[in-house]
Amino acid sequence: MSASDSLTFFGITGDLAYKKIFPALHALARRGRLNIPVVGVASSEQTVAGLLERARKSISEQGTLDEAAFAIIAKRLKYVRGDYQKPETYDRIRTEIEGAQRPLHYLAIPPSLFQNVVEGLGRVGLTQQGRVVLEKPFGRSLASARELNDVLFARFHEKSIFRIDHYLGKEAVQNVLYFRFANAFLEPVWNRHHVDSVQITMAEKFGVGTRGKFYEETGIIRDVIQNHLLQVIAFLAMEAPTSAYADAIRDGQASVLRSIRPLNEEHLVLGQYRGYRDEVGVAKSSRVPTYAAMRLEIDSWRWAGVPFFIRAGKMLRNTCTEVLVKFKPTPRVVFQEPFPSSAGNWVRFRLGPEVQIGIGARAKRAGEKMAGENTELLLVRSKQTDEMDAYERLLGDAMNGDPTLFARQDAVEAEWKVTDPLLDLPVEPLPYEPGTWGPSEADLLTQVSGGWNNPPEAAPPPPKPSAPR
Ligand code: BG6
Repeated sequence: MSASDSLTFFGITGDLAYKKIFPALHALARRGRLNIPVVGVASSEQTVAGLLERARKSISEQGTLDEAAFAIIAKRLKYVRGDYQKPETYDRIRTEIEGAQRPLHYLAIPPSLFQNVVEGLGRVGLTQQGRVVLEKPFGRSLASARELNDVLFARFHEKSIFRIDHYLGKEAVQNVLYFRFANAFLEPVWNRHHVDSVQITMAEKFGVGTRGKFYEETGIIRDVIQNHLLQVIAFLAMEAPTSAYADAIRDGQASVLRSIRPLNEEHLVLGQYRGYRDEVGVAKSSRVPTYAAMRLEIDSWRWAGVPFFIRAGKMLRNTCTEVLVKFKPTPRVVFQEPFPSSAGNWVRFRLGPEVQIGIGARAKRAGEKMAGENTELLLVRSKQTDEMDAYERLLGDAMNGDPTLFARQDAVEAEWKVTDPLLDLPVEPLPYEPGTWGPSEADLLTQVSGGWNNPPEAAPPPPKPSAPR
């Protein structure tokens, strides 16, 4: 796999570039890995100096700016302002990366523009040896994802297509996969005989901000459920891959995604935060959901009958993403306590803002009574979300042509098959107050399994040793 020798970034004035790509470029430059031209492309009035100012602000906001690394970005960065529909935009890009043999093109633009750009690049000969990175959501539905794949396959091979799902690049998400398959003790209990339910909460306490227009085209299901959360489920539920090679892992993911039953309205609650319709770029009568909670089922021998609950939303109480795998209660109650002893066993993966893995059990509280309390053994606790940020990792991998952490076509299509029935439903999402856990109607979904796990924003303190008596 030869390394890419140029990076063209479509959507350089956008939110993703600001929040993730400038810091990723900075981190790559720091590690001495940014030695190719970077051409930012966008349709807005902008200059290289203006972009660099944005880059400086973005990097400083997220960490310490290293002047030497920044100087490398300043030396590499160029800007092409252009209309994605016009052929001259692509002529100008070609001029800027003259001589590149294996250009990498990163599309951080609305999916509705992908086709124009791919064809535009193809017309000027920048696709034959090129690679393309696509931001999720990949398409808008199963049918459009297939159409998009056809557009891409006319210009690129599957091995040159890098579909980003930045969750796959997260340290914490990789640890789900690692933890499952590097330990033997989980396997005997990781199935329908012992697991009561699996829950994932992805909560954000901020709204859509400057991304109102994008969100109107996207909504919560396309934005984070069809991709990030289904990928997390794939790691939680997949069979052991036969090796660590890219395709062995991706085969396992695709297979479990194919066995998730398509979702239906029966186990679904959609919400919209109050104030969403006043956000810039949002229609006054918008029915786009900013919150969704649902139950899904996996039709496999391992998981048949185990409910998987997913909940994601903007403007919720906290910003945190957490998985809770809850085990079935003991078969009989031996110790009579005011609360059920079933409260007791779980595996908890905290995927953000920090990385944690905890195992929950009940233990006797010191004293006369045979009564206990829930305790958790924290196996992993890392304050830093990611030693290497997901975008740095993924950008570096795409530049090197390594596909392991990117979503393969069949997996993406399987994901759309799951969510397709829920897209653009003609229903009014339930309003919810910012700062809450979303519409209370969602509580009914998890009632059978003891309710939602509402994770705290800050990591819980390690359990204190009991006071000596
Ligand atoms: C993005 C979504 O893919 O993921 C955003 O478009 C969301 O709406 C973000 O905020 C969350 O990512 P992270 O890494 O902060 O959990």
